[in-house]
Amino acid sequence: MRKQLIAGNWKMNGTIEETKTLIDGLLAGSYDDNIADMVICPPFTALTTAGKMLQESKIAVGAQDMSVHSNGAYTAEISSGMLLTVGVSFVILGHSERRQYHAETNQLVNAKAKVAIDAGLTPIICVGETLEDRESGNTETVIGQQIDGTLSEFSADLLSKSVIAYEPVWAIGTGKTAPPEMAQEVHRFIRDRIAGIDKNAAEKIQILYGGSVKPDNAKSLLSQPDIDGALVGGAALKADDFLKIINSL
Ligand code: PGA
Repeated sequence: MRKQLIAGNWKMNGTIEETKTLIDGLLAGSYDDNIADMVICPPFTALTTAGKMLQESKIAVGAQDMSVHSNGAYTAEISSGMLLTVGVSFVILGHSERRQYHAETNQLVNAKAKVAIDAGLTPIICVGETLEDRESGNTETVIGQQIDGTLSEFSADLLSKSVIAYEPVWAIGTGKTAPPEMAQEVHRFIRDRIAGIDKNAAEKIQILYGGSVKPDNAKSLLSQPDIDGALVGGAALKADDFLKIINSL
């Protein structure tokens, strides 16, 4: 049995005050960490606060991106080493908003993932098709290319230190969720594709679903056999909703 992982992607939300309030809310709640782990990914400016507040808790902290470089003349970039110093243990890579607005490629995501793992961070590697891809029947071609590209030269060992997130672009922030059976189909496709690298690692790797996950649809999605958790945007900004999602398991 794969353990579930519920990750909150706060995106560009969360002043220090808002971060404190949200984390206080999460700490006041409870969930069974035998069933699922929780990670929150606030913006860079709030990571130190989150890291300190959650140091003694079972909630992990993640970043939303990371530089492929370790230091040097890269204005505005944040390195894996810097993330480690503030208590970060996960990093979201290749989110569709990074791909869309910052031209991130599979090749760059692949390089970042290797750097992250080398530093001891767990990458949450995102893939997902656009509405156009889906409507033209290209979902599997696109997802297949993203998986092959982002996991290029991955060994079983690297796979065992990674998490995948399937986020159909058309479902992100739109309130449109993929029907559970449709999401399951893509998750199965991803797992089969990874089995081409290593069968055992494919059975063990966590594949999260993302795209308008809310308290009222979480259970039907998370109960699918190949969905091992969720990457949650909007609903991660309310402690009650986020706790309801993890407690729907
Ligand atoms: P959403 O975002 O839950 O607001 O759709 C998910 C994501 O982009 O990770």
